Amino acid sequence: MSFNIAIDGPAGAGKSTIAKLAAKELSFIYVDTGAMYRAIALGLLRNSVAIENEAELLAALDQIEVGIRYVDQEQRVYLNGEDVSPLIRTEQVSDMTSRSSAKPQVRAKLTALQRDLAARENVLMDGRDIGTEILPNADLKIYLTASVETRAKRRYLEQAAKGGSYTLEEIEEDIRERDYRDMHRETAPLRQADDAVLIDSSDMTIEEVVHEILRLTSLHNL
Ligand code: DC
Repeated sequence: MSFNIAIDGPAGAGKSTIAKLAAKELSFIYVDTGAMYRAIALGLLRNSVAIENEAELLAALDQIEVGIRYVDQEQRVYLNGEDVSPLIRTEQVSDMTSRSSAKPQVRAKLTALQRDLAARENVLMDGRDIGTEILPNADLKIYLTASVETRAKRRYLEQAAKGGSYTLEEIEEDIRERDYRDMHRETAPLRQADDAVLIDSSDMTIEEVVHEILRLTSLHNL
């Protein structure tokens, strides 16, 4: 039997950094489901797929194979056998991911892959619909959020350090738009599961959030 922890929440709440650290402490496998959606989006972009055209989208999805593997305990994501992990974090891919992940045909493609992993391994899985749709019986569910201002500031500093040129206002606007899309789509919208524990990380350090997750896992005897 495997233990499953679900972490959901909006973009920029620090989910992946925190989930990675907590998974390491717990010796659980960290599953970044956003990376899987990003790999599909990259495939759609490469083939210039008009995603609003259902027949075109379905035909394109038929030709897209997503897989994940762990190299040195790091998740790598593969698109038709190619390791695309370094290519999926651009603004262009983020934007396409936000739009294509709203499509039920895209979500259906990843549901089985995510559930299979969770059935086989102790996982800490992060995403938007893990506690609500993918693993409704997860042993622990966390909804990790932070204010839009805090998330925008974090992302702004991150991209500025990498030489990015977006202004804080542009990033804030982008986060608001993405939140709206993630929360208002028809299929698997982002929302806190009824039995999820809410953590607002606006005024918390990464270490404090990780510590809180470890405290919650020990309460659940994980
Ligand atoms: O977590 P992230 O920023 O890498 O996610 C990228 C996009 O994928 C984001 O717009 C939300 C979407 N996503 C999703 O719809 N469901 C998931 N389980 C994970 C991500």
